[in-house]
Amino acid sequence: MSLNQQEFRKAMGCFATGVTIVSVDLDGEVHGMTANAFASVSLDPLLVLVCVDHSTKTHAHLHAKKRFGVNILCDDQRPISEFYSNPERRHERAEAEAGARFECTRHGTPMLHGSLAYLECRLHSAQNAGDHTIFIAEVEDVVVNDGDPLLYFQGKYRRVGEQV
Ligand SMILES: Cc1cc2nc3c(=O)[nH]c(=O)nc-3n(C[C@H](O)[C@H](O)[C@H](O)COP(=O)(O)O)c2cc1C
Repeated sequence: MSLNQQEFRKAMGCFATGVTIVSVDLDGEVHGMTANAFASVSLDPLLVLVCVDHSTKTHAHLHAKKRFGVNILCDDQRPISEFYSNPERRHERAEAEAGARFECTRHGTPMLHGSLAYLECRLHSAQNAGDHTIFIAEVEDVVVNDGDPLLYFQGKYRRVGEQV
């Protein structure tokens, strides 16, 4: 069986995920990127991973800054996900176009207002894997808020339904 990228994407689209914004401070400017290739890795130490395409700007920023935030989106933050996945975006338009507002944590990382949870991440290691890099990071702090998550399933945004 010879598998192509379209079939692979279709299969992976069956794996429902949350949606995050990976945020980096670039000397006072917030750079954000929508990412759902995000997972928990280890409890001791506390590690997470995010897979980032080599062709993105975020890829270079994570290597350079070695510190980033992961903002887990609420179900009313779809415009923010759309904004930060648009390669044409201008970061200074984030609040006007998508309602995205950030504050700086004590580590100097941008934290998105209104998200369901925030993880303060310090780069632990980076592993090249095909056309992506797996960035593994130690989680130094978290903020958890009330609300429901924004979900992504089969290429569409969703809300949590009934419990099963
Ligand atoms: C729901 C969703 C999830 C995404 N997840 C990822 C991801 O996990 N890794 C990645 O490299 N790109 C992902 N992308 C694509 C990036 O958000 C997109 O390429 C972005 O424009 C890159 O920005 P940058 O070049 O400024 O870093 C995702 C896009 C969407 C809509």
